[in-house]
Amino acid sequence: QLRGVVAMDGPSGTGKSTVARRLASTLGAGYLDTGAMYRAATLSVLRARVDVTDAEMTATVVERMRLEISDEPGVAAVHLDGEDVAVEIRGPEVTTAVSAVSAVPRVRELLCDQQRAIIERVLDDRGGIVVEGRDIGTVVAPDAELKVYLTASPDARARRRATQDGRLSTVDAVLADVERRDRLDSSRAAAPLRRADDAIELDTTALDVDGVLAALLSNVDERG
Ligand code: C5P
Repeated sequence: QLRGVVAMDGPSGTGKSTVARRLASTLGAGYLDTGAMYRAATLSVLRARVDVTDAEMTATVVERMRLEISDEPGVAAVHLDGEDVAVEIRGPEVTTAVSAVSAVPRVRELLCDQQRAIIERVLDDRGGIVVEGRDIGTVVAPDAELKVYLTASPDARARRRATQDGRLSTVDAVLADVERRDRLDSSRAAAPLRRADDAIELDTTALDVDGVLAALLSNVDERG
């Protein structure tokens, strides 16, 4: 049984989501996918036909949207203004635009407040939650019990993403996209992707899901 917050950060394609969900199920904890929240916000901006480089209009759309997200590791539901958008937020339009939307400070402030409220509620209800994203250990939950920063070689990350996609994407195309997003996410001024000083770094290049899970569980035990 997990008490408190596990913060899982890192770039895309490190196996973060799969591992975070499995870890939460194993520990009987809640789970929050903050990337899905930035993706839903992006979909809302695209649907409003607002230019994602217009920070002010983008923030206005995000202020008005109504976002609900599952806090269960086994349920991937995301509702935007009452509509289930779990599939649509994984599409190429959202993936291309999400880094621009998530670089807007006001957008981050709004989503960060919502994330902290969800974390508080889940901690009250069930005592533990695994939260994944880019700035969980640094900004959203700086007092997390355990912080993990996942990495993997660019090649491994592109291969994992290409398999997940199920579309006709070549590994090269996916690699270019993953690297573009990392560059944007790491170089933005507001809450850039970076490892918290007190995070454990785990390279998943040569590990399968069970291997990563075992490494994480031994860290949870040590602290528990
Ligand atoms: O995790 P996922 O790949 O779904 O995240 C999509 C995008 O959302 C990231 O590329 C990043 O721009 C943004 N994001 C963020 N902060 C988080 C989680 C995601 O800026 N905590």
